[in-house]
Amino acid sequence: MTDAAQHPAHHADQDRPQDPAATPEAGVDAEGAVSPQPLAERVENRSQRPSSDAFRAFMGADWAPSSDELPAQDASAPHAARRRAAVSARYPGERIVVPAGRLKVRSNDTDYRFRAHSAFAHLTGLGVDHEPDAVLVLEPTDPGAGDGGSDHAATLYFRPLAGRDTEQFYADARAGEFWIGPRPTLAGLAARTGLRTAGLEELESAVTKNVSADGTAVRLLREADQDMDALLAGVRAEAGVDAEAAASADAQVAEFLSELRLVKDEWEVERMRASVAATISGFEDVVRALPRAVGHARGERVVEGAFFARARLEGNDLGYDTIAASGNNATILHWIRNTGTVREGDLLLLDAGVEDDSLYTADITRTLPVSGSFTDVQRRIYQAVLDSADAAYAIVRPGIRFREIHAEAMRVLVERLADWGLLPVSAEVALSEDGQHHRRWMPHGTSHHLGLDVHDCAQAKRALYLDGVLEPGMVFTIEPGLYFKEEDLAVPEEYRGIGVRIEDDILVTEDGAENLSAALPRTPDEIEAWMARLQA
Ligand code: GLY
Ligand code: MN
Ligand code: MN
Repeated sequence: MTDAAQHPAHHADQDRPQDPAATPEAGVDAEGAVSPQPLAERVENRSQRPSSDAFRAFMGADWAPSSDELPAQDASAPHAARRRAAVSARYPGERIVVPAGRLKVRSNDTDYRFRAHSAFAHLTGLGVDHEPDAVLVLEPTDPGAGDGGSDHAATLYFRPLAGRDTEQFYADARAGEFWIGPRPTLAGLAARTGLRTAGLEELESAVTKNVSADGTAVRLLREADQDMDALLAGVRAEAGVDAEAAASADAQVAEFLSELRLVKDEWEVERMRASVAATISGFEDVVRALPRAVGHARGERVVEGAFFARARLEGNDLGYDTIAASGNNATILHWIRNTGTVREGDLLLLDAGVEDDSLYTADITRTLPVSGSFTDVQRRIYQAVLDSADAAYAIVRPGIRFREIHAEAMRVLVERLADWGLLPVSAEVALSEDGQHHRRWMPHGTSHHLGLDVHDCAQAKRALYLDGVLEPGMVFTIEPGLYFKEEDLAVPEEYRGIGVRIEDDILVTEDGAENLSAALPRTPDEIEAWMARLQA
């Protein structure tokens, strides 16, 4: 029984507009005039914060001091330093500004958990929780006088932990240790990253000093932090910097930072192996949860929840919203509502990835028979997709072009579609630029780069992405699928309502490729045996 039911008068008080004369902060006074209190401040109206000197003195006293023990250096630090050296080499004499981003409002006064911009994470090596409002600035130095003999000195500006005798400690619900737990000190984050660190009060002058139309060139990674965008736009305008030229300079740095992530170093690959391992555990959890999902009004949510629990247990979060798509929902490519039921006899397409604490993510799809075994037609469609994935994987090695992977996957799928008599044209015509009839059932790309972002390196030039040549250390997906919608009258009835995708995470090695997600069963027989084992 709720409190409101026991105290109806109290409940009614909360819902009913109150007598404005009795509540001077209510927003509208007795004459109907709007209160001068700004809307943004009214979030404070629900609580009282004592402000007497005596209260402040009491709250600021008698706390044990924070530990001054310095943390060890992060394993990512030397790798991040090498990445910064590459940025330095590309932009000698220019200031490069890379914000982490700000807390994002979910609604009203509720924020999402903080997740730094991927370029910031890449250049600092910092993962989960670090550090809203922080900005990395690479300041040009005399040639060779910068970090590690480079041409830049890098400083990480952020809001350091405030002492327990400060007002921030107990009064700042977004940053105070009393409210959100300890955060790093300047010395602590310097020890972890190997970076120079400074407080946010020094940031504005560090970003804006000497900006002139013909003086210090600044490049900003835009759209990570709207305050930085506005600050630099204002300073540039004042200095007479051409706005179009500045936009183009900024866009180029976004492109460069995206391309810098195309090849992963050994530390990144190690973190991606961890993400993949956690994701595989999540898929196992889902198989164990399937009997509970079957028949539940929102069975797909049971699936989504089982995976999410693993993502939070072993990693930071999901790398993207889980697609838990059963039956015909598997033919809806971006089905993230996950409101459907899960029925015996249907296939469940699960596309999910755990984001590691380092923020690197996996991106894996398996299509599972809910009842534990594939029907003949499900197996036929599944095998075609598997053949396509295997054929694409077989050609991966350094030196081929990224686009060849998709072409090979489509060659096999089109062959199967032609064998089944589904194409209105020959396989050759379908594969031609003007054909593409198979896209009715396989409308998406076969591969995308993977890393800090699920669709990593998205700002890279086409020449380095789709038309790019594979190099050892690249990580991308291979994810062909076939999707026959239940309303698709161009296919035989037995195909309708079946969607299959198989997605693996592939590392290019010196002489070929490694399927990082190969430990998750892929063939129909393996999947059936694996499900039986997990559900025994
Ligand atoms: N789950 C997003 C993708 O596979 O690209
Ligand atoms: Mn993918
Ligand atoms: Mn995926």
